[in-house]
Amino acid sequence: MSEPLTEPLGESPRESPRESPGGPRSEWPGKRGRHQRHPALRTPICELFGVAYPIVQTGMGWVSTPELTAATSNAGALGILAAGTLTLGETDAAIASTRELTGQPFGVNLRGDAPDLAERASLLVKHGVRVASFALAPNERVIRSLHDDGLVVVPTVGARRHAEKVASWGVDAIIAQGAEGGGHTGVVPTSILLPQVVDAVDLPVIAAGGFCDGRGLVAALAFGAAGVAMGTRFLLTSDSPVPESVKAEYLRRTVTDTVVTTVLDGVPQRVLRTELVDQLLRGGSFGRLRRSAGHAIAFRRMSGASWRDIVAEGLAMRRSHEIGWTQLLMAANTPMMLRASMVDGRTDLGTLASGQVAGVIDDLPSCAELVERVVAQAGEILDRLTLATDGTS
Ligand SMILES: Cc1cc2nc3c(=O)[nH]c(=O)nc-3n(C[C@H](O)[C@H](O)[C@H](O)COP(=O)(O)O)c2cc1C
Repeated sequence: MSEPLTEPLGESPRESPRESPGGPRSEWPGKRGRHQRHPALRTPICELFGVAYPIVQTGMGWVSTPELTAATSNAGALGILAAGTLTLGETDAAIASTRELTGQPFGVNLRGDAPDLAERASLLVKHGVRVASFALAPNERVIRSLHDDGLVVVPTVGARRHAEKVASWGVDAIIAQGAEGGGHTGVVPTSILLPQVVDAVDLPVIAAGGFCDGRGLVAALAFGAAGVAMGTRFLLTSDSPVPESVKAEYLRRTVTDTVVTTVLDGVPQRVLRTELVDQLLRGGSFGRLRRSAGHAIAFRRMSGASWRDIVAEGLAMRRSHEIGWTQLLMAANTPMMLRASMVDGRTDLGTLASGQVAGVIDDLPSCAELVERVVAQAGEILDRLTLATDGTS
């Protein structure tokens, strides 16, 4: 098993207070309010998802709950409910709760390799959900059946060849996540991946990995994307259910305080570097195996999944990621370790999936404030660029 793919180079402690990205915070939300969106911010995903702004809050296990999802959708962006870590019954209840909290469109994040994917998809149809998002794209047959059910299918990819593959399977849009993104992630930085994917597919591409403000949104549009998707930035909002002590831990970190490692479940994952992560990186494979077995047992108890389901899921993961038998046992690690931090606040026992962007975030706005701020800042930049062009022509 390979050890961390990236090692932090070390950085001087975070200077505080830092200047807000894009200028003094008092300038936000700026002259353009919610109702005066710059016309360039009306992109194809606004139509596709039925939202006002080309901004997506991505699915994050234990984090994008009904409350966070609905708060995002009510702000005019697309909220995505995380269901990859929920049982079928919990998914049903969580979608119903989200529906109660918002009349706006939202999405649900599923695992494309879930053994009960068909039943999960039928829940989306039952509740009138518009968008099915996937970390691992489902196969062509499943995509066709989701389309037959009227769902918009949006997988996340981290490499151009994956984008080409899922585009050929008929997905409706693609989230292209660069290496700096949180959770499971690829190796190509957003600034390189994005133009590659935009050139490779004839679909709306949504940029992810490292976005937090209006400057990022305009940059993504300049690369040819149809909007941005943000995980870590939405985790760090007042609407996020993550314990305050855990949010404070993220806010303290610099851009070099994350690490990408395969020790958790065999697939490269970006997390905050903590004492626990260091221990895991140092620890031998026997210790990791013992921990994995414990998590698999606990995950079975918590999720109500049968051993058959867990093994089926592990086998699917093994097939899709070409991981070994030891790593198969580790498949339950990510949900269990994420839960310990995100739900129980036990950062000593759990992991904190995080994008590098955590290092430039220093506040906890509400989703409404965040979306308004991003849209206003993007509008001001677009105005300025247009004026500059007018002035020289
Ligand atoms: C705490 C956390 C949990 C995540 N859980 C999931 C998940 O369950 N499913 C998924 O598709 N992606 C998951 N991701 C990845 C995000 O959906 C998103 O693609 C990523 O955070 C984007 O990069 P950014 O953090 O730089 O914005 C997670 C990310 C974080 C930070």
